Amino acid sequence: MTVAVIDQATTLRTLAASQRRAQVFAITSGKGGVGKSNIAVNLAIKFAESGKKVALLDADLGLANADVLCNVDLQWNLSHLISRKRTLQEVMIKTPGGFYLVGGASGLAKMADLTDFDRQHILDALTELEEEFDVLIIDTGAGINPNVLCFTRAADHVLIVTTPEPTAITDAYAVAKVMIRDGQDRVMSLLVNQVTSPAEGRAVYERIAKVARQFLGVGLYDAGCVYADEAVPLAVRRRNPFVLSAPRSMASAGVAQLASRLQQDSPVRTHPAGFFHRLSRWLKI
Ligand SMILES: Nc1ncnc2c1ncn2[C@@H]1O[C@H](COP(=O)(O)OP(=O)(O)OP(=O)(O)O)[C@@H](O)[C@H]1O
Ligand SMILES: [Mg+2]
Repeated sequence: MTVAVIDQATTLRTLAASQRRAQVFAITSGKGGVGKSNIAVNLAIKFAESGKKVALLDADLGLANADVLCNVDLQWNLSHLISRKRTLQEVMIKTPGGFYLVGGASGLAKMADLTDFDRQHILDALTELEEEFDVLIIDTGAGINPNVLCFTRAADHVLIVTTPEPTAITDAYAVAKVMIRDGQDRVMSLLVNQVTSPAEGRAVYERIAKVARQFLGVGLYDAGCVYADEAVPLAVRRRNPFVLSAPRSMASAGVAQLASRLQQDSPVRTHPAGFFHRLSRWLKI
């Protein structure tokens, strides 16, 4: 590399590092229906309550529903952004919970089916969000597929959600395994949702973390647990997130604890070259 090229690369990296503000969390799971979207929406509200500027990207390309949980009517969504009919600013909507939502588009083409040009466009939007916000949360949808991997690649921290059900546990481990095999070197943590006691959550965490350590050689960060709480389905039916409609519920306490863990103890990497790493990972699909 010539001196000029090195200088240019250094300048770009410094620029990207200085512009980059957001911590990027991807919320994912192996099994569907474990509570990702509810956790994502309510976590976004807790972060916003603590004074952070928060964006939530509903990246579930199959069954997007964060807008329903927040009771906002979306005029535009991710599909309009991808087709370039609308800009990111037009697509983004402020929710009653204080965070900004980029709504998902159900039944959108698979990420792998999108052109490089389209994917680059989403990446540009993510970069824009990253520069404008303190926290960016991506609800990825369930399962191990290129759509999900595309978005987990864009994150600093992947939060895997499971429940104590054996099928969810098996699938959570499978997700961690695929991410390691995919060469994803970012922080991974595990949240156990719908527990009947903290001891149950801890036991599930220990079980998965032990196997991950033994067979994958990785440490999973303990993101804690959230109680199975009737306030959650009630909030879903009322279209009013539980941290707002039932702030004193057990589920709200769990999400509040999750937010403070992620803000305070989380070993989130803020590697200056993170943006460039993510860029290359993203385009690898
Ligand atoms: N802590 C909880 N206590 C009780 N019910 C819960 C809890 N968390 C989630 N649920 C219920 O589980 C159902 C699925 O939740 P949610 O839509 O958030 O899951 P998901 O993982 O996003 O699903 P999908 O994989 O389809 O995107 C909802 O009906 C919700 O009410
Ligand atoms: Mg969901």
